[in-house]
Amino acid sequence: MKILVTGGAGFIGSNFIRYFLNSYPQDVVWNLDKLTYAGNLTNLADIASLPNYEFVRGDVCDSALVSHLLKKSFDAIIHFAAESHVDRSISGAQEFVHTNIQGTFTILEEARRQRVARFVHVSTDEVYGSMSPGELANERSPLSPNSPYAASKAAADLLVRSFFKTYGFPGIVTRSSNNYGPYQFPEKLIPLMISNALEGRKLPVYGDGLNERDWIHVEDHCRALDRVVRAGRPGEIYNIASGRPVTNLQIVLRLLEILGKSKELMEFVEDRPGHDRRYALDSSKVSSQLGWQITVSLDDGLRRTVQWYQENPDWVAKTRSGDYRAYYKKHYEQRGSTLANL
Ligand SMILES: NC(=O)c1ccc[n+]([C@@H]2O[C@H](COP(=O)([O-])OP(=O)(O)OC[C@H]3O[C@@H](n4cnc5c(N)ncnc54)[C@H](O)[C@@H]3O)[C@@H](O)[C@H]2O)c1
Repeated sequence: MKILVTGGAGFIGSNFIRYFLNSYPQDVVWNLDKLTYAGNLTNLADIASLPNYEFVRGDVCDSALVSHLLKKSFDAIIHFAAESHVDRSISGAQEFVHTNIQGTFTILEEARRQRVARFVHVSTDEVYGSMSPGELANERSPLSPNSPYAASKAAADLLVRSFFKTYGFPGIVTRSSNNYGPYQFPEKLIPLMISNALEGRKLPVYGDGLNERDWIHVEDHCRALDRVVRAGRPGEIYNIASGRPVTNLQIVLRLLEILGKSKELMEFVEDRPGHDRRYALDSSKVSSQLGWQITVSLDDGLRRTVQWYQENPDWVAKTRSGDYRAYYKKHYEQRGSTLANL
């Protein structure tokens, strides 16, 4: 199988590429990534020189580049590229609308024109909005996004749906809950808390800390995506989650316990505007139809994630300072136009 991954230098995309090439060493992966602040090629340093891996620096909104790239005849596209941080979407939504909606449209349209046989759009539980206590969103639940990030992802999901309904294009949408694991940019809850605690900084907890999220280890998400790429049905939506939501406070307290740090480091800060209280997904469809199950328990996953951040202080420091970004920016500027190099 020859696949194109977009956004493969980010957190989930890089974990997916590593998972995929380790699982299917005969398969071929191309990675299209713009290398925004969230894209980091050191996430794939161990993969970079493999003969069946190619990196293309570019923007999913660039239709000339995408059109040229898709002439390489891919069996499937897994579309991760997005602006992904809710807080950033609140302070400036423009980039979210552009990349998440226009970018998805651009790659969908080219994939349709060039008859790509399978297209998996990686979306989020945030499109369903906040759930009441005890309530679970299934794939038929109404969309009710509350942040500009969630709204941009919901719009992209609907574009994929419309391409299936209108053109018979083989698009599939996955909606996963919050991911955690290695190589996650230290602005998201779990890596932020771990890296702050390791540096003796305060751990900022929004509001009363009782917002609930359903955490899934990134490896489990990657295995689910693999099932969807290989066996998912065009036009379908698949929720992917553990089914066990916990509060942010529970997560932070458990991390402090694993790290052996004091609760005094925790600091309650003003809540995020429009902060959804509870995300909770019913993912029985992907389990019953595609045979996927959670394999990493939350406690084991948190321990492994803490250990990874403890063992990689250099990655955290250079990711936070922007050193990696500056290095790759210079490198790719010196190489010149991506289209000409393709
Ligand atoms: N992180 C989560 O908990 C989570 C949960 C559910 C769904 N998702 C979705 O999964 C996908 C990946 O999330 P992530 O956490 O790995 O995000 P991330 O922010 O870590 O990575 C995003 C990647 O996309 C690239 N990118 C951004 N704009 C681009 C553009 N215009 N063209 C090409 N590349 C571009 C970035 O350089 C980066 O490498 C996103 O679509 C996100 O909405 C994430």
